[in-house]
Amino acid sequence: MSDWVTAFAPASIGNVAVGFDMLGLALEGAGDRVHARRTDSGRVTVAEVRGLDGELHPYLSTDAESNTASIAAQALWDRHGDSDGVELKVHKGVPLQSGMGSSAASAVAAVVAVNGLLGEPLAHADLLDYALVGEKFASGGLHADNVAPSLLGGLVLCPPVLLPDVYSLPVPEGVSAVLLHPDLQVNTAQARRGLAKGYSMQQWLEQQGMLAGFIVACVTNNIELIGRTLRDVIIEPQRAAAVPCFEGVRAAAEKRGALGCSLSGSGPSIFALSATGDARNIASAMEQACRMQGIGCQSWVSPMTAAGARIERS
Ligand code: HSE
Repeated sequence: MSDWVTAFAPASIGNVAVGFDMLGLALEGAGDRVHARRTDSGRVTVAEVRGLDGELHPYLSTDAESNTASIAAQALWDRHGDSDGVELKVHKGVPLQSGMGSSAASAVAAVVAVNGLLGEPLAHADLLDYALVGEKFASGGLHADNVAPSLLGGLVLCPPVLLPDVYSLPVPEGVSAVLLHPDLQVNTAQARRGLAKGYSMQQWLEQQGMLAGFIVACVTNNIELIGRTLRDVIIEPQRAAAVPCFEGVRAAAEKRGALGCSLSGSGPSIFALSATGDARNIASAMEQACRMQGIGCQSWVSPMTAAGARIERS
């Protein structure tokens, strides 16, 4: 693999309940890997896509025009590449349609690897635009709340209206994220199409208040205010029914002292924030509640400071 450049990009929690399409959090412990090397094909191709089990992926295509990694990489190559081509190998570590930013992780890992192959002409943060091209293809909307934290790590504010500018936020001390992935799938593009187009003044005021309060809580390290503000009054009520274990899992997390609990992205994954000392217990309680409803699951506990994408040198 000496002529290959490898990059890793972590999974992420979209929306973080309060900031639909504009707030995202990187997750430690799960992510995608993309290997890239030069070819003489003059374009970006995908040699293979492997799944969590290391086997060739049963669903994801190696058609470069329908794979988020190659679409993002091609956008970067068109602008900064040369007359050579690039071959990619995509190794998925993030389950598909999980609400864990699977397509974003592939797109981010691809652009980081290709930038590495080119000798890193672009600053790391400037890769966002290219990763977004891949993400847009997958989700059918322009939102950076998975791509930005996957690229940069930590908690990132990325309102679509301010793109390509995004803002890394400080995170409260002693707070961790718990993410539960039930063995279900939700198609993000479909879930987005199903959302109501109009909202009431009351909903708008409440959600603005939650987002503003949550950001203040992060900046001032106010854990009690995190607990009061980590709520989605607009999107979660429309999506919760698609995840049959959601209410039970949330009740279990809150009973064990979570500061708040909501869907990650469009679901089915469910995340909670909690005092770091409570996080493992909360993860176990969430798993138990999910399994009690006959749904298998897996969970992760992550600091809110999880690292973003990086080149892996062997
Ligand atoms: N903000 C996006 C959504 C994230 O909720 O549709 C998708 O993972």
